Amino acid sequence: MGKIRIALAGVGNCASSLVQGIEYYRRLGSTGRDHCLGLMHYEVGPYRPEDIEVVTAFDIDVRKVGKTLNEAIFAPPNCTKDICRNFSRPGPIVQMGPILDGVSEHMAEYPDNQRFIPAERKSVDVVHALRESRCDMLVNYLPVGSQQAVEFYAQAALDAGIGFVNCIPVFIVSNEKWGQRFRDKGLPCVGDDIKAQVGATIVHRTLTKLFRDRGAKLDATYQLNTGGNTDFLNMLNHSRLKSKKISKTEAVQSQLETPLDPDQVHIGPADYVPWQKDNKVCFLRMEGRGFAGIPLNLELRLSVEDSPNSAGVAIDAIRCCQVARDRGLAGPLLPVSAYLMKHPPVQMFDEQARAQIEAFLAETPTDVISPRPRRQTAVP
Ligand SMILES: NC(=O)c1ccc[n+]([C@@H]2O[C@H](COP(=O)([O-])OP(=O)(O)OC[C@H]3O[C@@H](n4cnc5c(N)ncnc54)[C@H](O)[C@@H]3O)[C@@H](O)[C@H]2O)c1
Repeated sequence: MGKIRIALAGVGNCASSLVQGIEYYRRLGSTGRDHCLGLMHYEVGPYRPEDIEVVTAFDIDVRKVGKTLNEAIFAPPNCTKDICRNFSRPGPIVQMGPILDGVSEHMAEYPDNQRFIPAERKSVDVVHALRESRCDMLVNYLPVGSQQAVEFYAQAALDAGIGFVNCIPVFIVSNEKWGQRFRDKGLPCVGDDIKAQVGATIVHRTLTKLFRDRGAKLDATYQLNTGGNTDFLNMLNHSRLKSKKISKTEAVQSQLETPLDPDQVHIGPADYVPWQKDNKVCFLRMEGRGFAGIPLNLELRLSVEDSPNSAGVAIDAIRCCQVARDRGLAGPLLPVSAYLMKHPPVQMFDEQARAQIEAFLAETPTDVISPRPRRQTAVP
């Protein structure tokens, strides 16, 4: 099997951690003591982390467009922790995409090193650029609330005949019409809104399921998050937040037999704290009742570096999408999306989704090499 050639829409912190992480595992090689450390899978089908190659990238920030990818990932306002620098290859030149609704107006009030600065350039022909790069899929890392821009890139993926991995809470893969468009074109897609490796959502879901499994009644809960990266700055504009809140809230509510009343659950970004940079802190509270109705409550504080936390999952989403592409599967990948994304087309318990992914990946290698006809529903 060859490389997985990907395109990136948005060269922000998440893209930076993904690109640096791929290089990190490439340098570790396959035999070092820690070569699997931090990964859910070292191999996904025939693919190792270093088999992912970014062949084209789009952004709109004046400090990133026209630069090589390996310069752009370290350009401000990116602020995530370095994993590694000094790449042997420069990577592709970052191309200008259409801005559409990618940049929130309120950002203009913030210092240059904290906000996006749109380049005054004309967008390239994105479909042509995707075709020319011969990429297998587009990975979407645009800001929350950029509905038009995400739809533009999703349509571009369809027109270029490639897969789509949607890491953000604009509903494409979980939207029936968009999902059908990918199915009709014979293309796989994974989404929506990446569920970080050990992030607020997976922790909150797991504890919610724990209450349920142990017979405790969850009565009320909140999850408040703070951070200092551009994702948190962007989310200060509450008009861009609707689908983010739906995505994060449904991810938790789906673990309960009877969902909580909407006024008993509050989940979302709480504030932007610039000095936190890419460090995200989650404050979680769960109130409930156990045996004989006796009250109990749980408080938790989780502190993570936000972007590597998402890259640890994107690295599997990309490889699953490619395995599906190799096998000729089309449309939304259901268990893959359920395990790796917050807002999949179908919610599952995480252990169920994981078991289905393992079964999907365990299919015989001949099946990977000899693709079945396209247009199958992509349910392993
Ligand atoms: N970090 C996580 O764990 C996590 C989890 C779930 C979802 N996400 C989502 O992933 C997305 C990316 O996160 P991030 O931290 O990298 O954000 P970021 O703000 O660092 O990066 C966004 C990038 O998109 C660029 N951009 C804006 N409009 C554009 C357009 N029209 N075309 C091309 N590029 C454009 C910006 O210049 C910037 O480089 C966000 O929507 C975030 O909510 C992240």
